[in-house]
Order: sequence, then C-alpha cells, then structure tokens
Amino acid sequence: MSEFLNCIACKKKYDIDQVMIKCPCGGLVSIERPTDELKKLSIDLFDKRLASKNKIDQSGVWRFREAVFSGAGDNIMCMPEGRTNLYQRNQLSRWADCNELWIKHEGENPSGSFKDRGMTVAVTQAKRLGKKYIACASTGNTSASLAAYASLAGAQALVFIPQGKISGSKLSQALAYGAKCLSIAGDFDKAMSLVREACEQLGIYLVNSLNPFRIEGQKTIIWDILQSLDWDAPDWIITPAGNLGNTSAFGKAIKEAYEAGWINKKPKLAAVQAKGANPFYTSFQNNFEFIKPIQAKTVASAIQIGNPVNFPKARVSIHDTGGLVEEVSDAEILHAKYEIDRNAIGCEPASACSLAGLKKLRAKNIIKRDEKVVCILTGHLLKDPDTTAQNLERNAYNSIIKINGDIQEIERVLS
Ligand code: F0G
Repeated sequence: MSEFLNCIACKKKYDIDQVMIKCPCGGLVSIERPTDELKKLSIDLFDKRLASKNKIDQSGVWRFREAVFSGAGDNIMCMPEGRTNLYQRNQLSRWADCNELWIKHEGENPSGSFKDRGMTVAVTQAKRLGKKYIACASTGNTSASLAAYASLAGAQALVFIPQGKISGSKLSQALAYGAKCLSIAGDFDKAMSLVREACEQLGIYLVNSLNPFRIEGQKTIIWDILQSLDWDAPDWIITPAGNLGNTSAFGKAIKEAYEAGWINKKPKLAAVQAKGANPFYTSFQNNFEFIKPIQAKTVASAIQIGNPVNFPKARVSIHDTGGLVEEVSDAEILHAKYEIDRNAIGCEPASACSLAGLKKLRAKNIIKRDEKVVCILTGHLLKDPDTTAQNLERNAYNSIIKINGDIQEIERVLS
C-alpha cells in the first residue's frame, strides 16, 4: 500500500516518515492511500483473521493493518488492543426510546479507553523512527495509554496534564506505567499548546490526535463495529466529542469503508459535546464558518476542552456523513451514566454523552425510533470512581454499611 502524508488544506503530499503535525501552510496533515488499492482489500480477509491466533490478527486495530499502516513492518507495538464488545440492553433501548440500540464499549481496551487504538499506531511509528521521548497533553486517558505503549516500546513517556483537573485513577495509571508527569497550572488547552512547542523545539515525538497515525488507528473503532454487524451499516453512530480526534477518524473510516465497497450505505455521524465544553456544537450552529475557543467547564473532565485541535478534519466528517453535532448538560450526562452503570456496562462520565445525546435526538425525533443506532462509550467506569459514587442517590461512599462481622448484622441488612 503506498501511503503518504497529505495536507488537508493545500493538498501537498509528503513522505510518510516525515515528522509533521502541520503543513507549512498551516493545514493539518492526514494519511492517505490510493482508493483503488483500498478496493483490493476484501472483508473476507478481515473476517478470516478473527479466527487467527496470531497477536496482530487478534488486535482489533492491526486486523485491518493494510488500511491503517501497511508500512509498520516488524515493529508493531501491539498489546493486543481493540476487539471490544458490542452490547444490547432492553432497558437502555427503552430509556432512550430506540428500538435497535448497540453500545460499543471502548473502555474495554488494555488501558481502559479508546486511546489505545490510536496509540498502538503512533507509538509504532515512534519506534520505527527511533524516538526516545514521546509526549502528549492529556485530560488523563491519553496519558495512561501513552505510558503503557511507551513502556512496551522501551521509550520514555512525557505527559503534560492540567493541574487538579484530571481523575486520580488516570494519573496513577500513567505513573505506574512509568511516565514522567508534568503538571501545569492551567487547563488542557494550555497544556496542549505547551507540549506542541516543546516537541517542536526539542525533537520530542508528539502523539496527541494531531498526529495522523493516531487517527488511522482510531478508524478501526468503526470498522470493528461494522464487522460485528456483518458489514450491515447502522443508520447512526454517536460519539462523545472533545478534542475531535474520534470525530475526525470516524468520518474518514466511514468514507474509506464506503469507497472500498465494504458497506453500501454511510452511517450518519452524531458528535455530542458537554454544554460547558461546546465550541464544536456552537460552530455547527454557524455552519462551521468559524470556531470560537471557550473556557471549558464540565463534570466530564475527559472532555473539558475549549479549543479542539482537530476542528478542520472533524467538520469534514460531519458534512461527509450528513451528520450533526449536539450538546448535553452535565445533568443529562450523569443521568445517562447512571443508566449505563446500572445495566452493568458502566462508563466514565464523558462516555455517557453518546447515550444522553441519543435520548435528546430521539426526543426531537431527529433520530427515528426504528433506526439502527450505535453509541460509543470511550472510557471505563473505573477511570473516575469518585464521580461515579457522587452520582448515586446519596454519595454511595456514605451508604456503605460498617459491620463488626456478626451474622446478625448481615441478617438486619436483609430485612
Ligand atoms: N471520551 C473520553 C473518555 C476521553 O478521554 C476523550 C478525550 C474523549 C471522549 C474525547 O475524544 O478528543 O477524540 O474528541 N480525552 C483526551 C485525553 C483529550 O487527553 O485523554 P476526542
């Protein structure tokens, strides 16, 4: 497969091994490959690999390797990841008033979030290039994922986090896997601009979703779903949206699957933001003419982002699929999370944007009751246990029953 880097603004092409986040013209770069080469890939090959015992065939990312990063060679940094479950729950269907609802749980990846899908590809490229230091800014999940894959690759992870604004579980995960954590006074957007400057000046490899290899890996969330549904595409795919890496990747995945002939209709993409972190939603209301950065504030700390870096790619995804952008309040997010948790699927707050968004779009009848819908959950329940406990009727920690160990005490609990 002849992959190359392509500027989405001026269309200039670059060699795949050039380290480039932005083209000199200012445009974002993406990884492209000729459509006729994609068309030669048959879904039978991907289906056959499901039965294979080979680690990279078992990976829900590298199973699609020819359309992700065919030049990865022998240096693939694979856990394996991906191949997450697709759930159905009658109670959630009823709650959202949607007859065919599927829930794709990306929190089931090795580090507990979807980030592993992109990180396996970006760190593979870092390894190929012989990079010793790999960095990211993060609201938590990217840092845990980078720390895990850097450990696998024998490189040093440097993570830039906004002080006091990320969950302790995510931070401890990054530390445990061996990352150096730099905590900056300020928000995620400040950490993001600092890490970009540091990487540019110090030759450190940047693996935020500005890195086009991340986007290639995250495309496989969509392909994994399509494969599980026997390549019968849903009507809608709904995703939480923050820095807009997934929104960008999903539009690209849908476009490529359609052009390659793997599916015969394109699902519409709905990106859902928290009301307090909604610059993409506001931009959608203005026909995407501009995006106005904001100071973000939401209970869903993973998506507390006011200046999303992938905006130019993400708006193409919404246009290309005939999709839309919605916003939901913190109360709506927490309500949806309660329902997901109660049905033994569980997720972190940001993830619940997708189901909360579905409920809202059903109430407006933009999504019809009989349409087939997939909601993506992006992170595991245990990523933010404090918000989970606080979200229960009373803070659940206060309702824990202290006992000395007598059977009578347990009997009293049953009565
Ligand atoms: N959900 C979760 C659980 C996340 O951690 C993130 C992003 C998103 C949704 C938003 O995804 O950026 O592709 O629109 N977390 C990043 C991080 C920013 O640093 O972990 P997006």
